[in-house]
Amino acid sequence: MQRFFATTAKGMEDLLVEELRELGADSVEKTRAGASFVGDLSVAYSACLWSRTANRVLLPLKSFSAPNQEKLYGGVKSIRWADHMSETQTLAVDFTSTTSQINHSQFGALKVKDAVVDQFRSNTGTRPSVNTARPDLRINVYLLNDEATVSIDLSGDSLHKRGYRDESTPAPLKENLAAAILLLSDWPKISKENGACLVDPMCGSGTLLIEGALIALNRAPGLDRKYYGFLGWKQHDPAVWKKLVEDAMDAEISIDERERCDHDRDAQRPTPYLPKIIGYDMDAGAVRAAIANVERAGLRQLIHVEKRELDAVERVGEKGLIVVNPPYGERLGDVEELKPVYKKLGDTFKQKFKGFTGQIFTGTPELAKAVGLQASRRIVLYNGAIECRLLKYELY
Ligand SMILES: C[S@@+](CC[C@H](N)C(=O)[O-])C[C@H]1O[C@@H](n2cnc3c(N)ncnc32)[C@H](O)[C@@H]1O
Repeated sequence: MQRFFATTAKGMEDLLVEELRELGADSVEKTRAGASFVGDLSVAYSACLWSRTANRVLLPLKSFSAPNQEKLYGGVKSIRWADHMSETQTLAVDFTSTTSQINHSQFGALKVKDAVVDQFRSNTGTRPSVNTARPDLRINVYLLNDEATVSIDLSGDSLHKRGYRDESTPAPLKENLAAAILLLSDWPKISKENGACLVDPMCGSGTLLIEGALIALNRAPGLDRKYYGFLGWKQHDPAVWKKLVEDAMDAEISIDERERCDHDRDAQRPTPYLPKIIGYDMDAGAVRAAIANVERAGLRQLIHVEKRELDAVERVGEKGLIVVNPPYGERLGDVEELKPVYKKLGDTFKQKFKGFTGQIFTGTPELAKAVGLQASRRIVLYNGAIECRLLKYELY
């Protein structure tokens, strides 16, 4: 049993704690933007494979005082790096500093890298090289109040990168934030109800739709990722990982097994059934990007995306979730222009989606008021640095 640490975005910690407990983690303790937990390697691998909300999963190796570069270098050098990698492999260092004397992250990362490669050079005569994009071993150093914690980054790259998205689309939601919005909107429960549908009338690149489908299908979000930090780690246990991947493939509900949601055929529908998942956007480029992403995720049979103005959105099904991440109006003047759009959203919710749960995710409180409906719940989440609200509307 070891202690691990999972990171997430501010505001998503409670969801992360719940996920980690469900994955079998012990002694889960919430911190700011993360949670520590105890378990064996398979729990940490499960977190990499199954967490919808985590950014990274770290294995802390050592903590020590590092008020200056000599102490930092010495502390990193006191770890036996040959236990974790060989001199022929590659490494990368992520360095974050908060209220500490070493406050330049590039400088800190360089010192850490020097300590590791110097240890290999003096022991073996050769040194590992650096690969910042896809290293065999990613080392994470977090410096808080001059106390350094050195960890192995088991995820290797942020877990929000599921692999289905074309990164070139403008301002999409991060996949784990989209998943958090859906988890907080009760989508895991709603998606199982007969007749339930998921609608995003401003779907952009389709992140909410795709994450909604992954939840409905019980598909592990990390199943399609090709790269993890532990794959090149010397203590990686391939048998444990293989078993987890196989179990995840078994746990997924195959699209063909289920019947499409069709409100005309309620009576004969077998269970489990498939929720209808529909996205609209007025922008043709966004619709193209969404369709490409849906295809890349292998969800073309499950998700329908169409170019449509909000005005032209029609009622779909009897119940479910209508969730939307409209533009926030970040530039001057945009907020005024967007007020009628938010008003139209409120009208669409009220007039066309009775029986649904409505959720609006916005970073502009003034625009939330323009919706013209009374929110029954407000949850604070962060979209990058922007403080946002997830607003719930009961559409009786
Ligand atoms: C913030 S983006 C949504 C991003 C999306 N959640 C994602 O993850 O990619 C807002 C989207 O709303 C769309 N939009 C804005 N006004 C609209 C309207 N009146 N009707 C339909 N779509 C609209 C924009 O084209 C844009 O794609």
